[in-house]
Amino acid sequence: MAKSRTSIFFCQNCGYESAKWMGQCPGCREWNTFVEEPVLPSQGAVKKSTASGAKTARLSEIVIKEEERMTTKIRELDRVLGGGIVQGSLVLVGGDPGIGKSTLLLQMCRNLSGDGHRVLYISGEESLKQIKLRADRIGSFSDSLSLLCETNLDMIEQIIRRELPEAVIIDSIQTMYRETVSSAPGSISQVRESTGVLMRIAKGLGISVFIVGHVTKEGLVAGPRVLEHMVDTVLYFEGDRYASYRMLRAVKNRFGSTNEVGVFEMAAAGLREVENPSEYMLSGKPAGASGSVVACSMEGTRPILLEIQALVCQTFFNIPRRTAAGTDFNRVNLLMAVLEKRAGLSMSSCDAYVNIAGGVKMNEPALDLAIVLAIASSFRDRAVDEKTVVFGEVGLSGEVRAVSMAQTRVLEAKKLGFSRCIVPAVCMDQLKEVKGIALVGVHTIQEAIRSM
Ligand code: TYD
Ligand code: MG
Repeated sequence: MAKSRTSIFFCQNCGYESAKWMGQCPGCREWNTFVEEPVLPSQGAVKKSTASGAKTARLSEIVIKEEERMTTKIRELDRVLGGGIVQGSLVLVGGDPGIGKSTLLLQMCRNLSGDGHRVLYISGEESLKQIKLRADRIGSFSDSLSLLCETNLDMIEQIIRRELPEAVIIDSIQTMYRETVSSAPGSISQVRESTGVLMRIAKGLGISVFIVGHVTKEGLVAGPRVLEHMVDTVLYFEGDRYASYRMLRAVKNRFGSTNEVGVFEMAAAGLREVENPSEYMLSGKPAGASGSVVACSMEGTRPILLEIQALVCQTFFNIPRRTAAGTDFNRVNLLMAVLEKRAGLSMSSCDAYVNIAGGVKMNEPALDLAIVLAIASSFRDRAVDEKTVVFGEVGLSGEVRAVSMAQTRVLEAKKLGFSRCIVPAVCMDQLKEVKGIALVGVHTIQEAIRSM
């Protein structure tokens, strides 16, 4: 008889399974992430399945009723969730430690409980006193919110079944464990098993469950990436820890559109919604400086104006330095090559630094033209007109290509008091006249440089 395996190696970063230890994970290419974990006895193996209870259904027989949604009263969060919390949904909130996940969810609990919803906040990371200290900073709370400090998930399951709250917050999944799994809390097996239990609670009892998951590059704790397929909605909370703004993105959403973002600012009394991100991103933009261009990026259905900065200067080394902060480094290199070849800007002996001001990360191709103009502007030391917004994708032949939702972008520029837009010429047909905005359609990057 074949010897049954009692343990297996898991990559702690992406969940890749392997029968033997490996130095590098073939799945995610991270080094030194394999940890041995015991195999759980499969419960289905002994029981014979019978299909007597199962029934097939026709599409016409299925009745859909409008999902019931609770509003969190945080508009930015509601938007990202697709219009509120769906009853019985399982939501994963991921992000670096210290980014503000606990704060956001506690603020959500405050609003939900203020509306009379019964909410249970379970923390495996902080003591009740620490939660109280945080709550005091946020504001006053109603008594519909109950707190629990516990990490044993079997115990938590019993408490939830007894109290039957409408929403449960698990902070964080990496601290939870089940007694039946012998590996340490935070390991892939534990995280997977715990999420399974929470999924049963959410679907079985119709309770909305929010799970906090820390993402670490080192792969020391099981990355929540392995859970992404188990949950209904995955939200990522990101931003520079040292800058005050934060962005909440939906990466997956079974109940709404992905690509929506919510913008927040970390203040002394918790997270504050930023209703007009463009204004926020452009605050502090230098006047009349070369290398600074205002671009417009779409985040879901929302246009956000931002400042692209470039600094091009003589290099002192054989190989010039190139860096990109907030945007794709390879894309910047490509655009510089296009500038060099198609617009004749000789930058082989120049260092170039490109930065999106405010510490945001944006990778939309529509930013290409603004990056190109920022580099050209810094190289020639000639400022781009201050009242101009630029967007367009740049191709390898130096052509400026169409982007989606051009009209929305132009209207956003108008709203923020800009008077001119440099746009792809191919977008000109579909653009309606906007009062107070001069539209400049360009075919190539040379044309764009001439009109900057
Ligand atoms: P936290 O929610 O604990 O992060 P996470 O749960 O993602 O690890 O937020 C941590 C940071 O937020 C912490 O450094 C302090 C800061 N903070 C404020 O600036 N203002 C506040 O009102 C609160 C509650 C936290
Ligand atoms: Mg926390």
